[in-house]
Amino acid sequence: MTAAETGMSTRPPLLDPRRTFGIIGAGVMGQTILKGLLDAGALSADQAWAAARSVRTCEAAAARLGVPVERDVSARVPGAGVIVLCVKPAHAAAALASLREAGLRPDTLLVSILAGTTLAQLESLTGTDNPWVRAMPNTPCIVGEGMTVVCAGRHATADHLARAKQIFECVGRCLATEESYFNAITALSGSGPAYQYLIMEAFADAGVRVGLPRDLALGLVAQTALGAARMVQTSGRHPAALRDDVTTPAGCTIGGLLMLEDGKIRSVLARAIEEATRIASKLGPPQ
Ligand SMILES: NC(=O)c1ccc[n+]([C@@H]2O[C@H](COP(=O)([O-])OP(=O)(O)OC[C@H]3O[C@@H](n4cnc5c(N)ncnc54)[C@H](OP(=O)(O)O)[C@@H]3O)[C@@H](O)[C@H]2O)c1
Repeated sequence: MTAAETGMSTRPPLLDPRRTFGIIGAGVMGQTILKGLLDAGALSADQAWAAARSVRTCEAAAARLGVPVERDVSARVPGAGVIVLCVKPAHAAAALASLREAGLRPDTLLVSILAGTTLAQLESLTGTDNPWVRAMPNTPCIVGEGMTVVCAGRHATADHLARAKQIFECVGRCLATEESYFNAITALSGSGPAYQYLIMEAFADAGVRVGLPRDLALGLVAQTALGAARMVQTSGRHPAALRDDVTTPAGCTIGGLLMLEDGKIRSVLARAIEEATRIASKLGPPQ
């Protein structure tokens, strides 16, 4: 009987029970990923640890997560099965040099969420043959609705990629794709929440302009965005077809849509993503 027939998961375990899970860079994203794994039960607190630079971050993160968060994790590195790098790109070289000096095992799975930092750069900075998976998450991981994309490095197998996907599925959705898309993905979904917030803020202002109290306007806008997103995800229909459903002849929706088109909304959004993609390609660590 196959695993599918028995209903059992064929997913590899995230971690060998004898090994630990480390986060290098317990900032916003590092804490979010670790908290998601702990909350989902994918990891127990006694298997987890994290590193930060300042005592202040270490203390705050340790109190929030209930795991050791330390400035010096060199004694923990050799026992790690998975390490996720969550520092800013400019700090990658120093963080990876510390891992190497601490006796990083050659089979430890390394995962990076660094914007603009390629697998080739990560592999060369590490100077080892460790398997690398590059990931681009976004901040809605904080509420379990993140969108993460992953791709595998030269030494990473399908099993490594599956284990990396498991990490990000604890904080939202995760897809695997090729690395050549990563700058565009960084612009579209990594930076994307900021664009959605701007659009929601503008719609809330619009609601105030036509007489609604601000709280009411923002509540309507946020739930409408959520509902429209779910319609796109679950209906399998093109957004244009869903839009047509809302657009009655001579109605108010077509009037509003034409005003948006007059304001060149499509090309403004496309140009914004084009610019963010260009900048994403330059975010990596200094050469
Ligand atoms: N925020 C986003 O929306 C987002 C989305 C996708 C990807 N990313 C990527 O995620 C990474 C982290 O972003 P973030 O927003 O979480 O930044 P952050 O809040 O500034 O966190 C970075 C953390 O790294 C720690 N750190 C720096 N050097 C270190 C070292 N050598 N060893 C151990 N820890 C070190 C810092 O410690 P201290 O606090 O003590 O200084 C800080 O806690 C970035 O590379 C970014 O490109 C971010």
